[in-house]
Amino acid sequence: MASAVGLLKRCYLAQYPPKATKASDPIRLGILGAAAIAPVAVIKPAVSHSEVVVYAVAARDMSRAQAFAKTHGIEKAYGGPNAYQELLDDPQVDAVYNPLPNGLHYEWTMKALAARKHVLLEKPAADTAAEVREMFEFAKRQGVVLLEAFHYRFHPAVVRAKAILDSGELGAVKSLDVKMRIPQGFMPDNDIRFIHSLGGGAMMDMGCYTMNTLRYFTSSDPTSVLDAKPDIFKGKNDSEHTDLIDTGMEATLAFPNDAIGTLTCHLRAPPKFRVIPIWPEMRLNMVCENGELDFFNHIMPVIYHSIKVSTKTGKEGKGRKTRVEKVYRPLQDGQKGEDWWTTYRYQLEAFVDKIKGREPDVWLTEEDSISNLEWIEKVYEKSGLGLRPASSFKLPSQ
Ligand SMILES: *[C@@H]1O[C@H](CO)[C@@H](O)[C@H](O)[C@H]1NC(C)=O
Repeated sequence: MASAVGLLKRCYLAQYPPKATKASDPIRLGILGAAAIAPVAVIKPAVSHSEVVVYAVAARDMSRAQAFAKTHGIEKAYGGPNAYQELLDDPQVDAVYNPLPNGLHYEWTMKALAARKHVLLEKPAADTAAEVREMFEFAKRQGVVLLEAFHYRFHPAVVRAKAILDSGELGAVKSLDVKMRIPQGFMPDNDIRFIHSLGGGAMMDMGCYTMNTLRYFTSSDPTSVLDAKPDIFKGKNDSEHTDLIDTGMEATLAFPNDAIGTLTCHLRAPPKFRVIPIWPEMRLNMVCENGELDFFNHIMPVIYHSIKVSTKTGKEGKGRKTRVEKVYRPLQDGQKGEDWWTTYRYQLEAFVDKIKGREPDVWLTEEDSISNLEWIEKVYEKSGLGLRPASSFKLPSQ
């Protein structure tokens, strides 16, 4: 009962967060595109943060920009064909959130960095690993913060699961399996996730999480891709390489110390036995020398999650001792958080801390972002679908 009340309370406060009194000179955030993800990713999280305000939004269509600004109480709306650049040229804007389609990440992040704005960049960071490397190098030269928005990593439940592994309690990891699937019927054929020229594909979309999860929990990069099986997009679009689009991917990867990682991502998962609809699935399972860790819902843990830890006991390790952990706020003293903070709220805290020159509780390094895309590329190569097209954009020399 208490846990049901807790769940309702968390969901309510995540949706309607208490308003923080704003600092006199908060970081002013601008959003590139009136994206559907923006409210959950930055607008709501900013409400309860005293040091950041969502100040501007830009959209190619002025009435759309204005409507979005009005709905979300955003001061400034830029619209029209030059809207994105106008937002970047606004000296009031300190930082930018870039949730544009994958294929535009590189161009608009480079332009934002050129304007010396800090950037919170949606994942996957770009269409190629070379572009990710270039963006981070440029951010360093410009002296600004660039963060790929792997929000789940900032949540204390994920931090805790990793700490359990790192503690050695379960021994070395032998195998990991991560699944992220949504049932078919939610994404139309013209969804941008299926557009090759915009960096589409399930391995880019949900797949980038699954790759990141495997790499994070093994604290290493894979050593090779053993197998990669795509489900090919069945829709038609004469102006696109639809045959190079994966609606799903299953890959097996080798990791150091003979560990094996498997990932499954699917944007249109078929029904079980062809008829039984599946639920959306987000799950991580790790089998270790001395036990097992099963993490249900590591991507959206604020709603509900469970970390089931079973350790071998007794003679020849045949017995099992099981406990379940749920972690909604940081366990370490001095770390910030509330049990209703979403993954995005934790992420925003870290992003602001970094901009302010403070040490964030959790951070994601540039090497992490670069490697993640390198291994996504290797999965695509193995699958036969090849890399996503690089951007044709070149920044005029600085
Ligand atoms: C076909 O691809 C283009 C991008 O090249 C896209 O704008 C359009 O919506 C797609 N059409 C359909 C029917 O999916």
